[in-house]
Amino acid sequence: EEKGLKTEFADSFLVGTAVNLNQVNGRESGADSLMNLHFSSITAENGLKWALVHPKEHEFDFAFGDAFVAWGEKHHAYRVGHTLVWHQQTPKWVFQNEQGEPLDSASLANRMLHHIETVMGRYAGRIQAWDVVNEAFEDDGRWRKSPWFTILGEGFIEMAFRKAAQMDPKAVLIYNDYNVWKPEKRAAILEMAKSLRAKGVKIDAIGMQAHYRLDFPSLAQIEKAITDIHEAGFEVHVTELDVDVLPRPSDSDGADLNINFAASPKWNPYVEGLPQDIEEKLVKRYADLMKLFQRHKEKVKRVTFWGMHDGRSWLNNWPVRGRTNYALLFDRNKSLKPGFWTEMGRD
Ligand code: XIL
Repeated sequence: EEKGLKTEFADSFLVGTAVNLNQVNGRESGADSLMNLHFSSITAENGLKWALVHPKEHEFDFAFGDAFVAWGEKHHAYRVGHTLVWHQQTPKWVFQNEQGEPLDSASLANRMLHHIETVMGRYAGRIQAWDVVNEAFEDDGRWRKSPWFTILGEGFIEMAFRKAAQMDPKAVLIYNDYNVWKPEKRAAILEMAKSLRAKGVKIDAIGMQAHYRLDFPSLAQIEKAITDIHEAGFEVHVTELDVDVLPRPSDSDGADLNINFAASPKWNPYVEGLPQDIEEKLVKRYADLMKLFQRHKEKVKRVTFWGMHDGRSWLNNWPVRGRTNYALLFDRNKSLKPGFWTEMGRD
């Protein structure tokens, strides 16, 4: 009998996956049974981002959101809204007045609050957790100079969390970011989160996106992030786990390997399939991560993979489009990659 992730990890944390319209409306064959066996949580990969749910000032599109909630209810899955306030996948009009000039701060604040009211309000009690603010810091700990920050100042985070708590007092409110394993970035995030809480603002969890590579960050770096977040008083949610196996143009090993990314931007040594030794490395990496998260099950509430299987991974198109990546625990046939339960010591 096939083991399910959600059952095997049930005494530790929720196991989630990111989903899009094809999965929640039943158009992707196999998605339902994969969901049924393996996942106890779903996150909206794209459909609740501003550009999709609120494309024009007076136009909301809840087709995805409604299907997402209904599908999650059908599967008894913990539902995560992603994301209310972010600088990407947010239309330009949001930050502009009718003349196309940068919007004044009072109007932008109103726009943001109205957005949170409308989207969160619709799903109050039916979406259990929200990534309220996404990616507000740079890796060195400085504020990201996004239009939110530039027009509203750092207070935009407090405004967003206050409004979110008002719209659904029971929802788990998350600040979400990548590279939380970097000490300077994490320090800035935790300082922000603690100062909000000191002012009485509800903020429950820090989301570690966890877009990792085969060799870094190290388990020790990830563990330090988990314990720091916990000591600061916040839940840990691993929100977007995947492991990129392809080299990147920005890698120094790209230079070492003599790869000319400029001449061949999609350079991918594994178009025909991932060599077995690298797949074994990937599976071991996943097992090591899951074991680490299990050791900290009192702190880690949820571990969400950023996609159901390799065919659905955003890393096929990032940082360059049209690559064939193998970043997830399920392959393109929706099968669990071999060796995982053995590596977990659960065979
Ligand atoms: C990605 C999606 O996976 C892609 O489908 C989309 O084209 C771009 O966004 N950090 C986040 C996620 O918080 O929202 C991003 O998701 C991946 C990086």
